[in-house]
Amino acid sequence: MIKVEICTGSRCMMEGASTIFDILEDLSEEIVERHPEVKIEIGNSICKQYCKKDPSLVPVVEINGEVIFNASTQVVMEKVMDLVKLEL
Ligand code: FES
Repeated sequence: MIKVEICTGSRCMMEGASTIFDILEDLSEEIVERHPEVKIEIGNSICKQYCKKDPSLVPVVEINGEVIFNASTQVVMEKVMDLVKLEL
């Protein structure tokens, strides 16, 4: 199971979290279509106050418990694909 949680607090959303969410959903559909045995769960998380500690940390994405700060779509996709390869 690959579990991705994208912070949907306002600061993360302003810094691209919604784009990451949309692209990841598309990627996830493609992966599951090709490899139905792979389980991917994409969800939202509330603001965990990282943005208050340091605004440069957003957007924040958590993948199987690993917190990725200043997450880009590319980095998130790469991490998910690495985990998919481990599950195959
Ligand atoms: S809005 Fe995402 S960490 Fe605060």
